[in-house]
Amino acid sequence: MDKPKEASATASAATVGLRGVVAASSSIGDVNGEKGELIYQGLNIHDLAKNSTFEEIIFLLWNGHLPKRAELDELKRNIAANQELAPELLALMRQFPKDAEPMDSLRTAVSALDFYDKNSKDTSREASIRTATRLTAQFPVIVATLDHLRKGEEPVPAKPELNIATNFLYMLKGEMPSAEDAHILDVALILQADHELNASTFTSRVVAGTLADMYGAVTAAIAALSGPLHGGANTNVMKMLLEIGEVDRVEQFIKDALAAKRKIMGFGHAVYKTEDPRATNFRRFSKEIAERTGDMKWYEMSRKVEETIMREKGLFPNVDFFSASTFYMMGIPLDLYTPIFAISRISGWTGHILEQYANNKLIRPRAEYVGPRDVPYVAIDER
Ligand code: COA
Repeated sequence: MDKPKEASATASAATVGLRGVVAASSSIGDVNGEKGELIYQGLNIHDLAKNSTFEEIIFLLWNGHLPKRAELDELKRNIAANQELAPELLALMRQFPKDAEPMDSLRTAVSALDFYDKNSKDTSREASIRTATRLTAQFPVIVATLDHLRKGEEPVPAKPELNIATNFLYMLKGEMPSAEDAHILDVALILQADHELNASTFTSRVVAGTLADMYGAVTAAIAALSGPLHGGANTNVMKMLLEIGEVDRVEQFIKDALAAKRKIMGFGHAVYKTEDPRATNFRRFSKEIAERTGDMKWYEMSRKVEETIMREKGLFPNVDFFSASTFYMMGIPLDLYTPIFAISRISGWTGHILEQYANNKLIRPRAEYVGPRDVPYVAIDER
């Protein structure tokens, strides 16, 4: 029998991972990988980190401009009014395995939220803003709740008068956080809110592009964010720092890891070819907390890792690198770092879904076929 024609090697370099391919028009955010710049609706991330609040950013990403006082108050009221979990959802969450990955629990809970929203299939802007508000309000409550439930504890109800960052830390720990920690988390939420067509946001737009509902699009985005090459990197950064253990072991550890062709989590980026501006802010936070708590170890170790990788490989840290030591020193459990990313990124995902619904076209690219052709069919007993 003739052998089928050999498949040509692999997809051309241009199509691998869709690097550099423009797949949507968006006015939400832009990344300049050469200059290391990030903007949300035209505003520079450094200005926003310095002056804004996460609630203002949510409004900005959904509406294209910073809110006036009355608009912000209305958004805050709507978030506060949407924090309570449906009793059915809470009952379901009590059934989750205690050792489930929090990102998997979040994904399942968010998927189930759909059942308890009668208007979930309405993709009009008005209804979608309501759904986006509900999702944004419920994410921190779900994450804090799943942490309590897995420890066999009862969840701590939200305090509607607090902002999202303070409320999350309060619900998680059952006590009011320090003003410094609450501020750092607020800015962390600003920094992670949007990042153009990253893998999870692209996923959300692909799902929304079929006119599936917002819960479905966000559920898929959570799955994409959970991967170690995307939002899952921050937890792995901290695992690595704990494995290294001491500052004077950093150099050898990194050299060995690179020699073994291991990817060092928290370094490199598909778009930034210079420092990720979010890393600049998180480096400062890591230092600030270390100085405040008097324990410089994790910050110093992170700096040494950064120095060694720059020297050995010329790679810059990304958003996940210094956020790891920052969250660790805030006493947040390692496996909640990625869910915190999701608590922030829900604002960007929903912004992109709103944009997709407003001017929808099914997203359906083509594949460069590299398989064989004209293969004769062989009956099962003759193979
Ligand atoms: N550690 C070690 N080497 C790395 C690296 C890392 N974190 N990131 C990239 N490299 C190396 C690659 O091995 C490759 O080297 P080579 O040319 O000798 O083969 C080169 O740098 C280019 O890497 P590539 O994987 O093509 O970059 P990319 O743009 O496709 O990938 C990431 C970007 C983010 C997927 C990649 O940098 C990575 O896996 N980083 C770690 C995970 C992470 O931190 N993710 C969070 C992103 S915000």
